[in-house]
Amino acid sequence: MSRVKIIAGNWKLNGNKALVDEFNHTFNQTTFEHVSVMIFPPALYVNEFNCEHLTIGVQNVSEQTSGAFTGELSVDMLNDMGITHTLIGHSERRDIYNETNELIAAKVAQAIAVNITPVLCIGESLETRNAGNVYQFIQSQLDSVIEVVGITGLAKCVIAYEPIWAIGTGVTASPEQAQEVHRFIRDYLGSIDEVVAESLSILYGGSVNAKTASELFVQPDIDGGLVGGASLKKEEFLTICHAANQRG
Ligand code: PGA
Repeated sequence: MSRVKIIAGNWKLNGNKALVDEFNHTFNQTTFEHVSVMIFPPALYVNEFNCEHLTIGVQNVSEQTSGAFTGELSVDMLNDMGITHTLIGHSERRDIYNETNELIAAKVAQAIAVNITPVLCIGESLETRNAGNVYQFIQSQLDSVIEVVGITGLAKCVIAYEPIWAIGTGVTASPEQAQEVHRFIRDYLGSIDEVVAESLSILYGGSVNAKTASELFVQPDIDGGLVGGASLKKEEFLTICHAANQRG
């Protein structure tokens, strides 16, 4: 079955107006037939993008709708400004800002209620992997969202599997390691709803770069990538987009 292929760049707390302009310029001249290209810049820059070939999203959203929550952005504000996608539950949000599974599920519920697509990030630490608990851990991250929004709610998400030990470390998961977990995610979701499992795009994230992209994207259950560091380098990011596009 053919699923939507996505390459998403997560700029984190990086980038500036000049980089946005570079991306506008380059991607205005480039189209990818088989891949949807997304950028998640710091929220301040979202409306500086003016390229119809790029989908622009934010890196985080509030579980609250409005009120006295200084520093937050609501899903209604995203809608108001024409933003269609948000990352939710990135491991940096979970670890540095103490976001729990419950909070993340509440954010997913907010987003899908107004047709914003969450890119729901999940993934284990090295400690969890070494203890042999990867599947159990991933399943509990998925379950906490399914409990709140159901499998039909999860069907409205894109999933990004990002092993924490591979993020920003230069250590990409091997294609086999990544495929194994992607397969587990699809099988587990398939045990609840086969159609949803087959149609969900599951991206791999964690030190994706120009060298590792092709061999990751050739894996049957890897539907693209969530790219951090390499998404700040226009040429390398383009190479990664081409690699995914070739897989059709
Ligand atoms: P990285 O980051 O590609 O720099 O490892 C990926 C991410 O955190 O989304």
